[in-house]
Amino acid sequence: MTGEIITLQIGQCGNHVGKQFWSQLADEHGLNRSGESTQATTNTTDNNAKTNIARDDFTTPFFKENNNSTRYTPRAIMIDMEPSAIFDVQNHFPGFFDDRNTWISQGELGAGNTWAKGYDCGTTNEDTFLNMIDKEIDSTENFEGFQIIHSVAGGTGSGLGSSLLEAISERYPKKFLSTYSVFPGKESEVVVQPYNTILTLRRLAENSDAAIIFDNNALLDLTGKVFRDPKTDYDHTNQLIAATMSSITNSIRFPSYMYCSMPSIFSTLVPSPDLQFLSPSFTPFTSDYVTQTQTHHNTYKRNNTAYDVLLDLLDPSNSLISSHVNNPTYFNVFNTIIGNVDRNDITRAIGKIQQRINFAPWASNIVHVNVGRRSPYLIEKKTNNTCTNEINGMMLASSTQILSVLDRACKTFDKIFAKKAFLKTFEDGNLFKNGQDEFIASREVVQNVIDEYLAATGEDYLDEVLIPDENMFGDYNDTVGHKNIDDEGDNI
Ligand code: GTP
Ligand code: MG
Repeated sequence: MTGEIITLQIGQCGNHVGKQFWSQLADEHGLNRSGESTQATTNTTDNNAKTNIARDDFTTPFFKENNNSTRYTPRAIMIDMEPSAIFDVQNHFPGFFDDRNTWISQGELGAGNTWAKGYDCGTTNEDTFLNMIDKEIDSTENFEGFQIIHSVAGGTGSGLGSSLLEAISERYPKKFLSTYSVFPGKESEVVVQPYNTILTLRRLAENSDAAIIFDNNALLDLTGKVFRDPKTDYDHTNQLIAATMSSITNSIRFPSYMYCSMPSIFSTLVPSPDLQFLSPSFTPFTSDYVTQTQTHHNTYKRNNTAYDVLLDLLDPSNSLISSHVNNPTYFNVFNTIIGNVDRNDITRAIGKIQQRINFAPWASNIVHVNVGRRSPYLIEKKTNNTCTNEINGMMLASSTQILSVLDRACKTFDKIFAKKAFLKTFEDGNLFKNGQDEFIASREVVQNVIDEYLAATGEDYLDEVLIPDENMFGDYNDTVGHKNIDDEGDNI
């Protein structure tokens, strides 16, 4: 049975991205904004009774169901140090979320972009958070792991998020811990963001099993092009992140033969525990993803083939991180393609991708392609759509592209840390009472990650590192080593 996943959304960015993610999932599983199934119909023999038409999608990994499967509640925990983002989510979805799974700090002032404040708030309230998580786990049967959504640059998502990453990996070491981590744009809006980013990167490196990285430069560039407005707001970037998250989890929610759990997806991608940073790409991102309530004027549409989409995913303009690494080295690639695809197109595309990208000498040049299923509810919604063969693709890559993001984080950190600038706000933090060791140690960890990625481009890399063993993904490693076309040819 597919295991359950608990989503933790932390801080403003975490909760706003979470709002789009749940909006997308509600649409894909035929739920209205209160979590009621639009599939439930009135029974003809008893007008008061609701019956449920058999589903062939899996809601349980992400939703709790009430007894007669007419109402679904996200397995989500919302945390913030100020109320506005969580109130916004609750207003958008009246009655959808479990009220017990919301935590807003008493002062309601936020962490003021200070990692140290967020971190201390996280450690002070650690028992409360772990209790909330334990209660949520009580409502699961085969609990699989966590996904955390946050920004690495503010105070709450980064600082409180870091303390939760530590607490969760210590309390539930065998459960899968993934993050969707949003990096700031080129011009940091707040001067201490480089500090917050490096301190958080240390926890992503040490405590997560997989960290899917987005950066606001790339997101805003891409949404700016789609909406033909360079000032596209975070709603659009968040729709793009949500569309990517939805594609990554498609085979968990619309089960196929493989990739039915988080560990099975990520075990194809994370070659060693030290290379867990993943770069996503998505295409085509069109204004179709805009929620029904918003008006928009973009009419871009075209009938893509799976071949076009899979190759387009390699185009840097579809990457959700901005990277300047020339001819990056790839370690692993996982694609999800959704829509009415022709298998020959996929086979042709795989051959082309293998020729085009530069795999590390030790990597098997296998391109994993999961043929996902389009939600039947979305198909219904789009009956008036003029586009008959809409195909979307998502790529998660483990590659040296990520070095651009890590390098940028280090350079901006080094610049201000060399001058010991803006350290005042950290002085009161418990980890900083005795000086700046935490900064130095975190910077070192990030340097080690960079060095690891560089070393991984070498031929003898596997001679030097620990090859992932069977325990790397806990008890759930169900597809490590499965790399071939399955009987039905669904997963290539
Ligand atoms: P404090 O407000 O300091 O307590 O922390 P926080 O975690 O609430 O901060 P926030 O999430 O606002 O993090 C700030 C960073 O996240 C900046 O780089 C913003 O550009 C980015 N950010 C904030 N909200 C969003 C969002 O909805 N989407 C995206 N893509 N980025 C966001
Ligand atoms: Mg905030």
